[in-house]
Amino acid sequence: MTTQAQLHCLCLLTLYLTTGYGQEGKFSGPLKPMEFSIFEGQEPSQLIFQFKANPPAVTFKLTGETDGIFQIQPDGLLYHNKSLDRETRAVHRLQVSALDAQGNTVEGPVPVTIEVKDINDNRPVFLQQHYEGSVRQNSRPGKPFMYVNATDLDDPATLNGQLIYQILMQLPKVNNVMYFQINNQTGGISLTPQGSQELDPLKNPHYKLVVSVADMGGLTEHSFSDSVPVDITVKENIWKPPEPVEIEENSTKPYPFKITQVQWNDPGALYSLLAKENTPQFPFSIDQEGDIYVTQPLDREEKNAYVFYAVAKDEQGKPLSKPLEIQVKVKDINDNPPTCSSPVTVLEVQENEKIGSSIGTLIAHDMDEENTINSVLEYRIVDQTPKVPQDGLFLVQEYSGTLQLVLQSLHKRDTPQYNLSVQVSDKDFKTLCFVQINVIDINDQIPIFEKSDYGNLTFPEDTAVGSVILTIQATDTDEPHTGSSKILYRITQGDSEGRLEIETDPLTNTGYVKLKKPLDFETVAIHNIVVQAENPEPLVPGVQYNASSSATFRLTVTDVNEAPQFSQQVFEAKVSEAVAKGTKVGNTTAKDPEGLDVSYSLRGDKRGWLRIDPATGEIFSVAQLDREAESLYRVQVVATEIGGSYLSSTAQFHLTLTDVNDNPPRLVKEYTGLFFCYPLKAPGSLIFEATDDDELTFRGRHFTFSLGSESLQKDWEVSKINGTHAHLSTKHTGFEERVYNISIRISDGDRQPLEGIVSLPVTFCKCVENRCFQPAAHMPGIPPVGMAVGILLATLLVIGIILAVVFFRMKRDKGQHNAEGAQASEVKPLRN
Ligand SMILES: *[C@@H]1O[C@H](CO)[C@@H](O)[C@H](O)[C@H]1NC(C)=O
Ligand SMILES: *[C@@H]1O[C@H](CO)[C@@H](O)[C@H](O)[C@H]1NC(C)=O
Ligand SMILES: *[C@@H]1O[C@H](CO)[C@@H](O)[C@H](O)[C@H]1NC(C)=O
Ligand SMILES: *[C@@H]1O[C@H](CO)[C@@H](O)[C@H](O)[C@H]1NC(C)=O
Ligand SMILES: *[C@@H]1O[C@H](CO)[C@@H](O)[C@H](O)[C@H]1NC(C)=O
Ligand SMILES: *[C@@H]1O[C@H](CO)[C@@H](O)[C@H](O)[C@H]1NC(C)=O
Ligand SMILES: *[C@@H]1O[C@H](CO)[C@@H](O)[C@H](O)[C@H]1NC(C)=O
Ligand SMILES: *[C@@H]1O[C@H](CO)[C@@H](O)[C@H](O)[C@H]1NC(C)=O
Ligand SMILES: *[C@@H]1O[C@H](CO)[C@@H](O)[C@H](O)[C@H]1NC(C)=O
Ligand SMILES: *[C@@H]1O[C@H](CO)[C@@H](O)[C@H](O)[C@H]1NC(C)=O
Repeated sequence: MTTQAQLHCLCLLTLYLTTGYGQEGKFSGPLKPMEFSIFEGQEPSQLIFQFKANPPAVTFKLTGETDGIFQIQPDGLLYHNKSLDRETRAVHRLQVSALDAQGNTVEGPVPVTIEVKDINDNRPVFLQQHYEGSVRQNSRPGKPFMYVNATDLDDPATLNGQLIYQILMQLPKVNNVMYFQINNQTGGISLTPQGSQELDPLKNPHYKLVVSVADMGGLTEHSFSDSVPVDITVKENIWKPPEPVEIEENSTKPYPFKITQVQWNDPGALYSLLAKENTPQFPFSIDQEGDIYVTQPLDREEKNAYVFYAVAKDEQGKPLSKPLEIQVKVKDINDNPPTCSSPVTVLEVQENEKIGSSIGTLIAHDMDEENTINSVLEYRIVDQTPKVPQDGLFLVQEYSGTLQLVLQSLHKRDTPQYNLSVQVSDKDFKTLCFVQINVIDINDQIPIFEKSDYGNLTFPEDTAVGSVILTIQATDTDEPHTGSSKILYRITQGDSEGRLEIETDPLTNTGYVKLKKPLDFETVAIHNIVVQAENPEPLVPGVQYNASSSATFRLTVTDVNEAPQFSQQVFEAKVSEAVAKGTKVGNTTAKDPEGLDVSYSLRGDKRGWLRIDPATGEIFSVAQLDREAESLYRVQVVATEIGGSYLSSTAQFHLTLTDVNDNPPRLVKEYTGLFFCYPLKAPGSLIFEATDDDELTFRGRHFTFSLGSESLQKDWEVSKINGTHAHLSTKHTGFEERVYNISIRISDGDRQPLEGIVSLPVTFCKCVENRCFQPAAHMPGIPPVGMAVGILLATLLVIGIILAVVFFRMKRDKGQHNAEGAQASEVKPLRN
């Protein structure tokens, strides 16, 4: 875009014309408003435009913001004789007029605007020679704590004025990690995440940065730049958790009182507390100075430590940093007396216990903090009751509470029980606990039977279960009513089937030998029984049961003639109802315990369907069976021994009959009330239902329906509704006023279907209010007049006959005064 022309007089060396309003590429034209853009800093004496004037104009005049730079020649050549500077004046507003020879304006003035375009002719400059700033340790990364600022006179709307900041250097730089960053647009300096974590004023409180600024967006090597040193001081972060606090429980200071404080690095933060655990009470508060208070007395025994958070937020409610953990420990005071673990501690000591033996331990507690003086307990016996044979029989270990026997062994005959009062004390409190010491006997005696042989017993095998067959007795001289003297009898030999049991009377230790299961001569005729007597408590070492603790007896079982026994009480069999006569339908077996032969017979065969083989017990059918009559046929089988006492026993025989399809379908009821109103106005239909007596299978019923004869088809139609119901419909309306008997064929659709032909009486009758009016048709339940008259006549006839009989009898009895009762009983049924 550079054109060079040598103009000697005007020295128009370089024409640097970028835009000509309305006349591109031309450098001359008539006088009219124009705009030009010219880069600043160009060589002077440059031609801008040649205005042409028309007569009478002979010359031109230039006015406006020429700044002594813009000139116009009389021939209209506009030029500037000095380089332009955008930073001095960015736009020059000029006016050009054409003058005549007399100097009068003949054209114009017209505005000519010269825009000076920027070139990057200004360096960016930092506003300060040197910057200083400070930052808190652990400040939020990315949040600027200071700014550097530079200016550039060039047009900020062009690249020439666009500044980019950059950190050139950080001193010191450990492990090549940048702790600081700069926003390249705003110059804001902030910490990097590493800086936020690692900066520590104790290690190094001072950092030096060199920050540069470059124009042209820092994009080209032609950009100008400036740099400046920045000194940064790292200050301690005062937002840190305070030392754990200790508060004495139940303190008497007035509440609330201050226990600790927190402080944000800068003023103006809003403080609050946040509970860490979900506790019903949170007895702490914080004020806006960051001071933390406890608001009420604490109880260590309830809760011995608290942990919560202090939070600092800015005015928008945004957390300024992470919350600080506050730890509070509640210090114990001795505010709890010792407590006994139970109102009375019961201990036992055996009679022969040696001096020094430990009897047991009295346990007491103290709620105050463990392992401190507040919870250390001391035990001391303050009383012993009774003081026989002397006082001071027992000793308690001062710190453990363990009781020991001193002075002598105890004897139950002196006293079976001692009561001790033991004082338990901590630093400030005393509590009395009670100990009851029972002197107990030991199991050093064995049970001794009164005799070792109870002789021969004989019982018939039918002796009732539960009968007592023998009473035995052993004695034990240990303390009565304890496990040491109680006796349990155990049969150790001769009763492997467990037919016997022995109950012990708890007061007398008498043993009752009872029958638990029936005796059986045929199984075992003679039992040699050995009974052992034992204590529930173990014997003390060194003492053992010996032969005196057992006894024997001999049980002889005698035979009894018994009835035959069936192998089961109920015999069951299942056959089809269609089995042929003479089929074996079941068998039963009975055996006589004495081995006699058995003869079988039936009882209760009320339909006479069955026969039993007297010798084998097999059962046969002797008639056609019918499930619809008896689906489960029950009879009794009697087995009688042949010989002996002819004892017999009975068992049940249950014969289940399974169905075969042997019943034709039928109507579910007698349909007597079906009618159509006469004369029939439109064809209509009726519903009827069928059933049959065979067993209903899971499929339900599936009847098919059709008319019984072809002749009916011109008047009637049958259509199935579902498996049991069908419609009977008229095909026309021309029916007479009478009863029609419609025969209908119903098939049960079985594999071997059975068919039933039924007759469905349908009446055509005159109707009143849709009810059959003609006596010819009868409503269900209401007998027709004819039938009603018949019933009436029949009733009268019966009454007449009765009256006649009564009259006749009365006449006959006139002479015989002995038949009062008979007369009454004759009359009675007549009234019914
Ligand atoms: C430019 O022209 C003005 C007025 O004609 C004159 O005063 C000035 O000295 C000239 N400047 C140069 C550098 O020629
Ligand atoms: C930088 O300085 C200029 C001129 O003084 C001022 O307009 C601008 O707001 C300053 N920028 C910052 C970030 O301080
Ligand atoms: C200025 O910073 C932005 C975001 O931090 C970045 O995307 C851009 O590249 C930077 N410009 C230069 C010239 O470094
Ligand atoms: C706190 O101390 C008072 C006396 O100062 C006492 O009456 C009260 O029982 C104590 N409370 C607890 C929980 O220890
Ligand atoms: C021991 O105390 C109990 C009540 O706790 C009482 O019944 C018993 O009689 C006392 N025994 C003696 C020997 O005083
Ligand atoms: C019991 O019977 C047996 C065998 O019959 C006989 O030896 C024994 O002497 C009898 N004992 C008593 C005490 O009768
Ligand atoms: C069994 O022991 C007791 C003493 O415990 C004794 O009196 C008895 O004679 C002993 N009997 C036998 C058979 O040894
Ligand atoms: C009938 O006798 C046969 C053998 O003869 C046997 O398998 C079957 O279990 C007996 N039935 C009954 C009910 O006793
Ligand atoms: C068959 O149809 C009749 C009449 O619509 C109805 O009452 C009956 O419940 C039906 N039966 C079955 C099993 O759907
Ligand atoms: C209709 O049929 C029934 C039985 O099938 C019979 O008793 C009756 O007399 C018949 N009635 C007529 C009008 O045919």
